[in-house]
Amino acid sequence: MAAAVRGFLVMLALALAFAGAFQLGLAYDRPPARKSLFISLSKDLRSTSPQQVHISLVGQDKMRISWITDDPSPATVEYGTSSGAYSFSANGSVHSYSYVIYDSGEIHDVVVGPLKPNTQYYYRCGFDSSPEFDFKTPPSQFPIKFAVAGDLGQTDWTSSTLEHIAKSNYDVLLLPGDLSYADTNQPSWDSFGRLVEPLASKRPWMVTQGNHEIEKIPLIHSQPFTAYNARWYMPFEQSGSDSNLYYSFEVAGVHVIMLGSYTDFDPTSAQYKWLQKDLKKVDRSRTPWLVVLVHAPWYNSNTAHQGEAESVNMKEDMEDMLYQARVDVVFAGHVHAYERFTRVYNEEANKCGPVHITIGDGGNREGLASK
Ligand SMILES: [Fe+2]
Repeated sequence: MAAAVRGFLVMLALALAFAGAFQLGLAYDRPPARKSLFISLSKDLRSTSPQQVHISLVGQDKMRISWITDDPSPATVEYGTSSGAYSFSANGSVHSYSYVIYDSGEIHDVVVGPLKPNTQYYYRCGFDSSPEFDFKTPPSQFPIKFAVAGDLGQTDWTSSTLEHIAKSNYDVLLLPGDLSYADTNQPSWDSFGRLVEPLASKRPWMVTQGNHEIEKIPLIHSQPFTAYNARWYMPFEQSGSDSNLYYSFEVAGVHVIMLGSYTDFDPTSAQYKWLQKDLKKVDRSRTPWLVVLVHAPWYNSNTAHQGEAESVNMKEDMEDMLYQARVDVVFAGHVHAYERFTRVYNEEANKCGPVHITIGDGGNREGLASK
């Protein structure tokens, strides 16, 4: 009798636990997508005022400052460690691009440094009357804090993501692809630049490309990544890469590899050969952590984006290399959901494989992948 009662209680407990889990599942109602925002140019800015300011790491102690003006202005940055007192200045280059009937503004790139680690700098771009911006350099050793967000787009949900990131006191942002969701509408790139400027002008934003950056239109604009490469110039030369679409950098004790899902990755490709060389350069006594970012996830249990060549074939071609190099973490975007795998290799749990994390729920207009 006692055994029967015990059995009943166990069944009841299991039923309640199951019902609770089921209810919890139902209780999380994934919020719907929100409409795209368009951030217009502030009326206070002149045609030579810097806009869309963002910064990125270059080597161990330098920073690239990128900004756009409507009319030509000098590619000069004045900077220093006290507000209003600029002991240093650096010059860079100006370029622009055309896309069908759109002509970009003047895109400025200036590399400043050498800079001290973990230090606040104040800077202004172009003419003397330019407003002052400020950034903090990352630390030279642990601890270092990364923020990772993919598939940002530009909606109220993106603003919410950016608010969370801003509060996190991070050192470096890592973005595994799909930035503006401009999708050939070039003024949306300008809007995105304005949306992220308050954060991206203060901390280095290190990005790699997603499918929304390709923007190739057959017969009309055959060159891929025109806006992305012109606007988001990453430090590929410093890592021996010949393309802005894949590169690596080191910060504090971390070697970060940014792979390109939407350029060639097979064993005969330049990216594959570059990755082989780059992994050989990793010195775990200098950078004990080895982190990889890629847009299309190699492991994904969501129904969204199953079976795409960029996921399946790239994993087939490159997973061995990452496993042999003992990569710690692979961050991906593309699938608009969060998912974290245990250490995995060749479809099985493996204590020497990397942890794969999908973090593609940054707030874009397409909404969440819910199945
Ligand atoms: Fe994507």
